[in-house]
Amino acid sequence: MSGQHLDSNCVTLTRFVLAEQSKVPYATGELTQLLNAIQTAVKVISSAVRRAGITQLFGMAGETNVQGEEVKKLDVLANDLFINMLKSSYTAALLISEENETVIEVETERRGKYIVAFDPLDGSSNIDCLVSIGSIFAIMKKEDNSIPSLKDALQPGTKVVAAGYALYGSATMMVLSLGNSVNGFMLDPSIGEFILTDKNMRIPSKGKIYAINEGYTHQWDEAVKEYVNNKKDPAKGKTYNARYVGSMVADVHRTIKYGGIFIYPATTSSPKGKLRLLYECIPMAHIVTNAGGLASNGKIPILDVQPQGLHDRSPIFLGSKEDVEDILEIIKKHEKK
Ligand code: AHM
Ligand code: MG
Repeated sequence: MSGQHLDSNCVTLTRFVLAEQSKVPYATGELTQLLNAIQTAVKVISSAVRRAGITQLFGMAGETNVQGEEVKKLDVLANDLFINMLKSSYTAALLISEENETVIEVETERRGKYIVAFDPLDGSSNIDCLVSIGSIFAIMKKEDNSIPSLKDALQPGTKVVAAGYALYGSATMMVLSLGNSVNGFMLDPSIGEFILTDKNMRIPSKGKIYAINEGYTHQWDEAVKEYVNNKKDPAKGKTYNARYVGSMVADVHRTIKYGGIFIYPATTSSPKGKLRLLYECIPMAHIVTNAGGLASNGKIPILDVQPQGLHDRSPIFLGSKEDVEDILEIIKKHEKK
């Protein structure tokens, strides 16, 4: 029991995963080992994010990544951490990173059975002004014993074994779904451990917040315009609040906690949307779906989309069940016209 505000029986993330693993017959512990590697990467990134200004990690690293975007020093550090920790966990065969054009193969001696897709530091435009950023990951299994190749990486979201994100916000939090429930763990900096604080997270069935970059209104299709207009028109019901951080992890975390909808639609300049399927949309869809919400590309569930390429993009409509259903209905109505 707790004494002096310290809990002698606290549930750490590792303890939680071990308990889940014990329910699976013949579990080898590899997933626990893999998640420990991610925890280490996230702890170092969290510490680096908090000290970035002092240790001069802010600013450009002088490179561009595969999408032609500027790479910040923290992005490089976060990517190296994910890669090094995962490779040395002996649990992964193949890694997919937003920062690397091709798949990252793990050397034969260190190879395990998992495939991990990750965005090591998402929301890079928010780094220098100290607004929340995050890391996102999805874990899949390699389906056969062949030499790991691109085809192993291109699995739909239905194959995801576990997914999670770390939010470097006013506190650091890791949210994890092992395919059933969704649980949140707050980093206690005094002991360097993630502690279970948000047990069995469930997204409200309807919210009062919409999140979309309204600067692109002129680039949206008619259905998105109608939906967002409805949310601002008192004649169409109670109006919603607008919130948009511009970091997917922060916007999705708020959506899970408070309810509502997060949208990154197709625009005329990005006809497939901006967000990447394998390491942004699919992990978030896995988590939100397991928390009782919905995630769609406007036509089918995100989890049913078959990726064709490592860096495929997808429009995304994600959040409270009723809110996502509302916009899907409007999309359908416009398709019939
Ligand atoms: P990044 O991978 O370059 O950091 O971009 C991804 C981010 C997401 O976190 C966020 O949802 C989106 O880009 C915001 O984009 P926009 O500025 O177009 O609204
Ligand atoms: Mg990103």
